Amino acid sequence: MQESVLSARRSPPFPEEEDGDDESKTRKQASFAARISKHARLVSGSHCLVVSLSLLLLLVVACFLFSRSRPVICVSGYDSIARNALFGANLEGLATDFGSLGVPWCRSKHGKTVEWTTKDLVKGLEEFVPIYETRPIKNNKFGMGFDHSFGLWFMARWIKPDLMIESGAFKGHSTWVLRQAMPETWIISLSPRHPGKYLKKGPAYVDANCTYFTGKDFLDFGSVNWVSVMRKHGISDLSRVLVFFDDHQNELKRLKQALKAGFQHLIFEDNYDTGTGDHYSLRQICDQSYIRGGGHSCFRDSDEARIRMKRKRFWEKAVDIDELCGKGEAWWGVRGYMRDDFNHSNKAISYAEHFQNSRFVESMLDVYWELPPVAGPSLTHQTRYDPARAPDPIIEDGRYGLFQRLGLARLGNSVFNGYTQMVYLQISTPTS
Ligand SMILES: *[C@@H]1O[C@H](CO)[C@@H](O)[C@H](O)[C@H]1NC(C)=O
Ligand SMILES: *[C@@H]1O[C@H](CO)[C@@H](O)[C@H](O)[C@H]1NC(C)=O
Repeated sequence: MQESVLSARRSPPFPEEEDGDDESKTRKQASFAARISKHARLVSGSHCLVVSLSLLLLLVVACFLFSRSRPVICVSGYDSIARNALFGANLEGLATDFGSLGVPWCRSKHGKTVEWTTKDLVKGLEEFVPIYETRPIKNNKFGMGFDHSFGLWFMARWIKPDLMIESGAFKGHSTWVLRQAMPETWIISLSPRHPGKYLKKGPAYVDANCTYFTGKDFLDFGSVNWVSVMRKHGISDLSRVLVFFDDHQNELKRLKQALKAGFQHLIFEDNYDTGTGDHYSLRQICDQSYIRGGGHSCFRDSDEARIRMKRKRFWEKAVDIDELCGKGEAWWGVRGYMRDDFNHSNKAISYAEHFQNSRFVESMLDVYWELPPVAGPSLTHQTRYDPARAPDPIIEDGRYGLFQRLGLARLGNSVFNGYTQMVYLQISTPTS
């Protein structure tokens, strides 16, 4: 996890220019050029002109030098020198500043973390890409994209539960993902609408080994008699159950309900960052000033405000200080509101309440792990989440060779646009 907050960013890792083919270079260059031109349109003034001119000069010199020694890789030389020049000019918006605005996380009681490593994740990716290519719902707009599908699959397979519960199924993509992870494990799916209802209009997934609480049998997760349902499914050890929430409900509410029922392994799909999203999330709850990267000031001339303003030009989900701060400089949740139920309900909360909420979460938390994005934006071409508020990706920018080797280059760009900090929690048993 990147720990620096509003401080110097790491120098960009682009050590692998030899790691791709010519196509990769053209692609990188193309996207890079697009970003420069986007930036050029947005930033006006003489400063920009000077930077552009000196860039141009550098490029000409570089190309000349490279073309004399190694004519073929002139393009590559142009690319990296231009990048470095741009970073040297300290312009915001490029891909390599993961975590530069801080990545708040929830503290666990004993500092325990997950068993899996980045190496395990890379291995998992290699296995998952061909599986993902067989997904029945190809265009899962408003549903999970690649990053979260992978995260759910990876974690379900690692945890190997005896039963999987999902709250919020939509067309059944996540049911399908769970099924790929655990071919023989029963699933319980709670969703207002049966996924089969979508079949009339297009692809959907209905699982044969799944109990559906949908349609007229729909029950909210918090209203289910879990003791009876667990007995019916022969589950006596609740630590063998995995619960997946993709239901856009206040995550504090869901956490309390899961705790009461005795579940211990929870995954939340949409773990929205502060100032965004339609429900109060764990990321929001743990955005506290005693956490690095947490807590915000609403001063419009602060470093944070300036950085946020610049980043907003490049990333759709980035929020500037005006969006972050509501009445009375309330920045927590979404402008001081605790949203719930797809934003159909929202309640103003005080900072004291918000603070208490995080202390409450910490009091029951054994593990908090945010899924990193699968790869850097120069590889995925995602334009939505702001890297400044995300943990380092599994595959860093510049590693196109690895990206391609894992089969990720075969997937369309749109599948990488859905990352919202999916999170895995392990919480206490009621007795511990
Ligand atoms: C349901 O599960 C059983 C037992 O694991 C398995 O034999 C059967 O093939 C599964 N059915 C489907 C349609 O996957
Ligand atoms: C959420 O609800 C509030 C209050 O009803 C409203 O002002 C706001 O625009 C809504 N936001 C979104 C994204 O729907």
